[in-house]
Amino acid sequence: MADVFHWWQRGIIYQIYPRSFMDSNGDGIGDLAGISQRLAYLEDLGVDAIWISPIFPSPMVDFGYDVSDYIGIDPIFGTLDDFNALVAAAHRHGLKVLLDFVPNHSSDQHPWFIESRSSRDNPKRDWYVWRDPAPDGGPPTNWVSEFGGPAWTLDETTGQYYYHAYLKQQPDVNWRNPEVRAAMYDAMRFWLDRGVDGFRIDALRQLVKDEQFRHNPPNPDYDPALHGPNRAVMPVYTTDLPELMQIIAEMRAIADDYPDRVLIGELYLPIERLIAYYGAEGCGLHLPFNFHLILTPWQAQAIADLIERYEAALPEGGWPNWVLGNHDQHRLATRIGPAQARVAAMLLLTLRGTPTLYYGDEIGMSDVEIPPDQVYDPFEKNVPGMGLGRDPERTPMQWDASANAGFTEGSPWLPIAPDYGQTNVARELDDPDSMLTLYGRLIELRRAEDALSVGEYAGLPAEGDLLAYVRSYGERRLLIVLNLGSQTQTLDLAGVGSGRLRLSTHLDRDGEAADAQLSVRPDEGLILELVAT
Ligand code: GLC
Repeated sequence: MADVFHWWQRGIIYQIYPRSFMDSNGDGIGDLAGISQRLAYLEDLGVDAIWISPIFPSPMVDFGYDVSDYIGIDPIFGTLDDFNALVAAAHRHGLKVLLDFVPNHSSDQHPWFIESRSSRDNPKRDWYVWRDPAPDGGPPTNWVSEFGGPAWTLDETTGQYYYHAYLKQQPDVNWRNPEVRAAMYDAMRFWLDRGVDGFRIDALRQLVKDEQFRHNPPNPDYDPALHGPNRAVMPVYTTDLPELMQIIAEMRAIADDYPDRVLIGELYLPIERLIAYYGAEGCGLHLPFNFHLILTPWQAQAIADLIERYEAALPEGGWPNWVLGNHDQHRLATRIGPAQARVAAMLLLTLRGTPTLYYGDEIGMSDVEIPPDQVYDPFEKNVPGMGLGRDPERTPMQWDASANAGFTEGSPWLPIAPDYGQTNVARELDDPDSMLTLYGRLIELRRAEDALSVGEYAGLPAEGDLLAYVRSYGERRLLIVLNLGSQTQTLDLAGVGSGRLRLSTHLDRDGEAADAQLSVRPDEGLILELVAT
């Protein structure tokens, strides 16, 4: 019988930051051929899809998120042939390939922008967002860049400002212009025609800006000691505008011209706004990225509430998804500590909804301290010393204990983590207690149990540091109990049922019977198979 679920509903997505995954040519920077070499590892791990951060030609001011050609491959990463080979090989390994589409802004080196800035009457002038200076000659609005400083830069030649939600080398394109849309949609089709299985869409909430260019209101909660300068105003007129839904519907129609493709949107938005991006039936995103596990305090009650709120808010037919880390957020193991990172792995892989893993989290990689003179990330350069820089979570994958962790034969672009002798794939594969073994077993169980991949979710009341819920599919019921604290806790199983332990974060309680009471050690997570009542 045909599966009623799509691959992206049952599946697990794995994010690759290509500069740091595997270097095949010794230049110290990861590349496409390197990814191809490591596909067997990903297949064995049991994930279903890879999402690769941008690999298009780029001056690399924002490391690929400044695209100068939407339909090419940057020579740092390889060639179009390498890309075709990667897609073919990934598909042979049973892995889907998702690209990172960056439609909000191009590089200032993109030929479109070079033309646009050349004169006020250039046919591409309106492809970007140009405005006259304010009466005092300053920027047209108070809009701020995500990376600090004004979001407007004066172009001396033509005497107008252009808008950039991020760096001045990343001018925002004008999505109100139909020619821009057509060009961007052609780029999507270019990759879909090459067998790409979908896109993660970058900075989606920013695509459309207020037509009247009104000032954003000040943010009453802004604290310059705690927040980056981008938080000084509320992005009311620069993000999440109603016109976006039409654009998303157009993108969706393109994806739907191809079988079984998926669209995932990067949307840092509160839950009630986020879920709007599922759109009307068949017109929205398949998966508006849900980052709330990253943004919520790591505390049982807060997470239980989050899950309830998200589950309750999902529209009819909207499929949930969960994320614990990405290339813009400090590493999970650094945020909550290595012991809780194991509990978090169990949470992510037992919740209802598509999980996305960030490369290296499956071996327990931590943030790496970057000496000031080795900083690459423009965010850190613009707003130094506040911990906003993203280099620490982008360091090379740790494959083995050999020189440079087996990532490169050259000199790695970012430092290798000092713990790579212990925290690496080769060692962890042989260690029954390792993070990688835990991930492997959780993924295997999720793949084997419909209750985990596509079953129902029912939360139990959170008590103390315990987070507990039941996943079920037909008669099959699995109870997940996570101790987010450092004291042993006891869960009363009355009313829940009795059962047998299937898997624990400590990997030492398999098969143990549980009825009446379940004792959960500090930093422990348990999965129980409940006996049918
Ligand atoms: C997204 C990306 C981030 C990038 C920014 C600008 O937030 O995830 O890495 O810097 O967009 O493209």
